Amino acid sequence: SLPVLLDGDPGLDDAVAWLLAFASPETQVLGVTAVHGNVPLQQGVRNTGVVLALAGERAAGVPYFAGADRPLLREGMTATQVHGATGLPAAHLPEPVRGPEAEHAVDFIIRTVRANPGQITLVASGPLTNVALAFRLAPDLPGLLREVVWMGGSTAQGNRTPAAEFNALADPHAAHIVLHSPVPVRMVGLNVTMQCIATPERLEQLRALGNRAGAVSAEMLEFYAGVYRERYGLSGGALHDPLAVAAALSPELLTWQAMNVEVELSEGLNVGRTVCDLYGVTDREKNVQVAVGVDDAAFFKLLLERLGTLP
Ligand code: BDR
Ligand code: CA
Repeated sequence: SLPVLLDGDPGLDDAVAWLLAFASPETQVLGVTAVHGNVPLQQGVRNTGVVLALAGERAAGVPYFAGADRPLLREGMTATQVHGATGLPAAHLPEPVRGPEAEHAVDFIIRTVRANPGQITLVASGPLTNVALAFRLAPDLPGLLREVVWMGGSTAQGNRTPAAEFNALADPHAAHIVLHSPVPVRMVGLNVTMQCIATPERLEQLRALGNRAGAVSAEMLEFYAGVYRERYGLSGGALHDPLAVAAALSPELLTWQAMNVEVELSEGLNVGRTVCDLYGVTDREKNVQVAVGVDDAAFFKLLLERLGTLP
């Protein structure tokens, strides 16, 4: 089975993504690390414990950790207008499975990757602060990971600003460190995730699973749909982070193109923008496998089937 580390900022789509990971028999989740982002770190840590509780037996014994509470250099930002005040907008959630471990998320990532050289896929669904810190503390780490699959960036427009996607903007310096390290990176950006929409019909299908994971996912995605309808004129919320987990499990659900990706670090209109050399007009290194297409129907089928196996 595929050993994975999950790093993110739950956040309702991180939560659904992590449920997909736990529900997938081909993965073994070695641990979950929270980072600042959608909600302040302490809330994200608590939410991580709640997601583990939602995953039931599949998450039994999986440890979770608190990571960086702010970006490397810029000021922190949250996205509670999109994810609700707590980040998990559902009425009847279980209590966290237990408390987080005392070890820092970054130390855990380093220790675990070193213990499984060449094996681990790290799925990052938030700002890349924890991953960048791990790479700085342990320069051998990029060479020891199988790959990093990152939900972040975009080959086209942004969402937090016209130019920048939220996870890229929330710590562009961290993204720069990771994209410039020797680790193989797959980028699952807005250009594909905005094609994967949790429409009202899909929410109905989630509810029809008849389990708690389906009901809670549908309830949270319903909340999120309001924002997406109003802001983007879409029929539901985009399944950003679940698509990144699906990409780690089944990369063939997407089409990939190797290209140079740079993150704009200068403050100004474009800060946090992922500048993607889609047409190869520079001779800069092709440092990222970028998702450029997605089979949305096959992805949602996988998500639905898998969530159906949870409590
Ligand atoms: C990303 O930003 C966050 O709000 C979501 O959880 C997702 O990871 C989408 O831009
Ligand atoms: Ca996220």
